[in-house]
Amino acid sequence: MKNNINDKDFNDFQLHKPVLLNEVIEFLNIQKDKIYVDCTLGCGGHSIEILKQLGENGKLIGLEKDEIVLNIAKERLKGYKNCYLFHSDFTELREVLKSINIEKITGGVLLDLGVNSLQLDDPKRGFSFKASASLDMRMDKSQGLTAEKVINSYSEVELADIIYKYGEERYSRRIARKIIEIRQRQGKIKDTVELARLVLSCYPKGKFYKIHPATRTFQALRIEVNKELENLEQFFCFIQEPLLPESRLTVISFHSLEDRITKNFLKFNKSFKILTKKPVIPSENEMRDNPRARSAKLRAAEKII
Ligand SMILES: C[S@@+](CC[C@H](N)C(=O)[O-])C[C@H]1O[C@@H](n2cnc3c(N)ncnc32)[C@H](O)[C@@H]1O
Repeated sequence: MKNNINDKDFNDFQLHKPVLLNEVIEFLNIQKDKIYVDCTLGCGGHSIEILKQLGENGKLIGLEKDEIVLNIAKERLKGYKNCYLFHSDFTELREVLKSINIEKITGGVLLDLGVNSLQLDDPKRGFSFKASASLDMRMDKSQGLTAEKVINSYSEVELADIIYKYGEERYSRRIARKIIEIRQRQGKIKDTVELARLVLSCYPKGKFYKIHPATRTFQALRIEVNKELENLEQFFCFIQEPLLPESRLTVISFHSLEDRITKNFLKFNKSFKILTKKPVIPSENEMRDNPRARSAKLRAAEKII
């Protein structure tokens, strides 16, 4: 594969390793005078490589809904003139383009879905149950809904449904019942570790589990709090309009629910030619080097009409 980007390029930056970087750059087919949009800028790992390949007439527009993460990307990318970064949800992409008088995306768009290592590793953000923290899980701190609100205000049926649907958790009903029981007995559930223990107590005892039993419930809560699937569906409702023919759409997903939405969008949309018959997955080397890349799947398509 051309554009081989070496690991040493990231020696200066251990915060979030961009996943499938060479593959993304390849599928985006970077041309130096075109306009590219990184809809999930994160720490700018993919964007920096796009920018390195752009000429002075090319542009990179980056959107990130987490202001803390956005500020890191801003710092990293400050040396690039042709780069426009926004604190924005990618569902607002059309408004962002309008604000800088761009009508069409000539080069391509990248969605690298899910959470950033920074968000996962910061115990205060409440995404992980490795340390005790308040159940927050908001990517965008300015929004009202937190995981704590979901856990303490949703009904038993609503909780069971989201844990089942977004976590693909087979003990969802049991977990939801337990949450309601604890709420009635002790009051609010506020802490990540407390919730993880509660989930664990709903699992059969004495068995070995490959992943911690709370992982699925935490994923479900995160998806619900950040409206991750609704946002992706909303994005696919409008994205074909700003993309010019010959531009590329690349999507990296990290669980089957996002991947299914992407796959179906591409399958049934006649404006795109699919470039990845099967999703591209990271090499053994990349998975060894970056375990968080393990579940990544990349799908790419070219806008044709
Ligand atoms: C996997 S990370 C992206 C990492 C980035 N490609 C890099 O290499 O540094 C996903 C990022 O997308 C952001 N994000 C998730 N959903 C978003 C949305 N709807 N709009 C804008 N940003 C979003 C998250 O806050 C997170 O920082």
